[in-house]
Amino acid sequence: MGQPTRHHRSVLAPQTRRSFLRRAGFAGGAALSLVGLAGCSDDGGSSVRVSRAPGSSAAQFVHGVASGDPLTDRVMLWSRVTPAIEGDISVNWFLSESPDMRNVLRSGTVITGASRDYTVKVDATGLVANTTYYYCFETATERSPVGRTKTLPTSGVERLRIAVLSCSNYPFGFFNVYGRVAERADLDLVLHLGDYIYEYPGRGVSEAENPDEYGDGRPLGRAPEPPYEIVSLDDYRTRHACYKTDVDLQELHRQHPMIWDHPISSPAIRV
Ligand SMILES: [Fe+2]
Repeated sequence: MGQPTRHHRSVLAPQTRRSFLRRAGFAGGAALSLVGLAGCSDDGGSSVRVSRAPGSSAAQFVHGVASGDPLTDRVMLWSRVTPAIEGDISVNWFLSESPDMRNVLRSGTVITGASRDYTVKVDATGLVANTTYYYCFETATERSPVGRTKTLPTSGVERLRIAVLSCSNYPFGFFNVYGRVAERADLDLVLHLGDYIYEYPGRGVSEAENPDEYGDGRPLGRAPEPPYEIVSLDDYRTRHACYKTDVDLQELHRQHPMIWDHPISSPAIRV
């Protein structure tokens, strides 16, 4: 993977880096298409954790895109395919310096499947320090939202601006702060401290009944899945997928690279 593929043509309207934020509405991918940039293939798979659009027979990117652990010359790119049928899926990825993905600087193909919960994780290397990049994923029929990321600077920078977030509990509130941070165009990265997800039961235990529990979503209707304390890898994957359906969390990841301080238990969870 990762061989540069330059001089691709695109049918996309030109976008500036500044307009990337304003056009958050294309997160669903409706306004863009990379079809024609490179060939993709798609087979499908099982273990669907979030329902697809009614009538859809294609694998979909319903958990958004993310980037993280940036270094001066590389950054991790992530997404997850929600498959239509069981089987491995071939996913192409693209990285560009422009949000319209007009000039693809890096690209590759990865195979994902049930063994890794249909996640896609790419270490995009050979990048320039302190530089903004854009990326997306594509199967034969679906394209992910276009994400933005940035490499770390080496030295001599006048400013490094970091948003710090901490302890994010899906059933205890909406992620409005994530949405506001996503709107900031002047950030270099997001540092998430503490709990990125919580393992507590999702239903049947109220705060009044047991103040040590933090999983009751009844006041807000945001009961997490699965509705019990997560202990297994499959539990963690399901809980993580539940959080990743939040639109503000998806937009936060789409706009900024993230670094965690917390040793999250499941390898499927980390970007
Ligand atoms: Fe915490």
